Amino acid sequence: MDLSSLEDIRPFYVMEILEKALKLQSLGRDIVHLEIGEPTENVDNLIINSAQNALSNNLDKYTNSFGIESLREKISQYYEKVHHTLVPTDRIMITTGSSAGIILAILASTSINDEVIVVEPHYPCYPQILKILGRKPKIFPTFEEDNFQINVDKLRGTISQATTSIIINSPSNPTSVSQNPDVLESVVRMNLNIISDEIYHGLSFGSKIKSIIEFESKKTFIVNGFSKLYAMTGWRLGYIVIPSDKVRSVQKLQQNMFICAPTISQYAAVSAYEIKSEVQKNILKSYKQKRDFALRFLDEIGIKVNYVPDAAFYILCNFEDYCESSLDLCKDLLDKVGLAIAPGIDFGENYKKYVRISYAGSMEELQKGLMLLKEYILKYK
Ligand SMILES: Cc1ncc(COP(=O)(O)O)c(C=O)c1O
Repeated sequence: MDLSSLEDIRPFYVMEILEKALKLQSLGRDIVHLEIGEPTENVDNLIINSAQNALSNNLDKYTNSFGIESLREKISQYYEKVHHTLVPTDRIMITTGSSAGIILAILASTSINDEVIVVEPHYPCYPQILKILGRKPKIFPTFEEDNFQINVDKLRGTISQATTSIIINSPSNPTSVSQNPDVLESVVRMNLNIISDEIYHGLSFGSKIKSIIEFESKKTFIVNGFSKLYAMTGWRLGYIVIPSDKVRSVQKLQQNMFICAPTISQYAAVSAYEIKSEVQKNILKSYKQKRDFALRFLDEIGIKVNYVPDAAFYILCNFEDYCESSLDLCKDLLDKVGLAIAPGIDFGENYKKYVRISYAGSMEELQKGLMLLKEYILKYK
C-alpha cells in the first residue's frame, strides 16, 4: 500500500463520536454512552487473580508464538465440548485481540488483489483492513426484511474468478443476528476461503448456535476472542483456529509481526474456562432483559425494529424517517441532548440511514439513553 492509498481508508466513525463525547464530558457535559460495543461489567475475579499470580511469578516474558499450551488446551476442550469438534492444539494460535487474528487470517488465506466478500452490514474494520492489506472488499448486502440472512443464491451469483474468500460474522456486529445453520453450511460448500469471526459466540439468547468449524472445511479460519464474552477488551486477547496447511505460514507471520500475544493476559484467560456457567448465564440474562426493554421502548416511541436481534448487545435501527444521513443525526443527538450512538455508515453504504444502539453497558445507562432519544425526537424531529 502506498501512502496516497491511505486517503481511501475510512475513519471508524463511531470512534469519532466517542472522542467527541469524551471531549464534551471533559468540559462538564453529562453524556450517555450507547455507542460502543464494550461490556462494562467487571472482569471475573478468577481471571484477575490469575493475572496477579502471573505477575507475582514473573510470568511476563515472551511466550511461544502460538501462545501458552495450557490456554490452547482449554480452547481445544471448548470446541470438543461445545461444538463436538476435535481441534488439535497445534492448529490454535493465541493472538493480540481477535483483531490481530483477522489480519493473520487474511494474510494467510488471500493474495494481493483477491476479492474478499464482506457481508453487509459489517464490522467497520473488515473493508478497511482488507484495503490496507491490498485485498479488494466485495460488499454483499443483506436486508432487515430477510432478518439479515445471507441470500445464498445471490451470494453464489456474485462469485467471480477474482473472488477467493469471504468474511462471515455470526452473530453479527452491528445486527446481533446469527446466520441460520443451513446458510453457514451452504457458504462452506461454495469452496471459498472462509474467515469466520465468532467473537460473539456464547452471547446468544436463541437456540444454541453453530460454529462454522462444525461443517467440515479445510479452508476455514475461525476467529474468536475474550473481549466480549469475558469483558476483557483491554487485555487484547483473541485466538484463531488455523487450517492445517496454513499453520506454518501463520506461525511465520505471527513471529515477524506480533511475536506473541500479551503474556499476562494469556495466563489470566486460562481461568476464564473455570467461570461457573451460572455466572455466564446471569450475564446473558441481563443482556436479554436489556434487549427486551430496548425493543419495547423503541416500539413505543415509533421506531420499528423489524428483525430479531438474538445475541450480543446491539440493535440496528432504521432512522430513515428522521434523517438523510445518520452521521449528522448522531452528531446532532450528541450536541443537543448528550446521547452518543453509532452512525450506520460505519457498517456499510446501504445502512447510512440506520443507527446502532449498544446495550453493552448498564440498564440504567440504557434507560437514560433511550429517554434522551425520545426527548430528541419529540423536540427536534
Ligand atoms: C465483529 C468484531 N470482530 C472483532 C472485533 C475486535 O475485537 P478484539 O477486541 O478481540 O480485537 C470486534 C470489536 O468490536 C468486533 O465487533
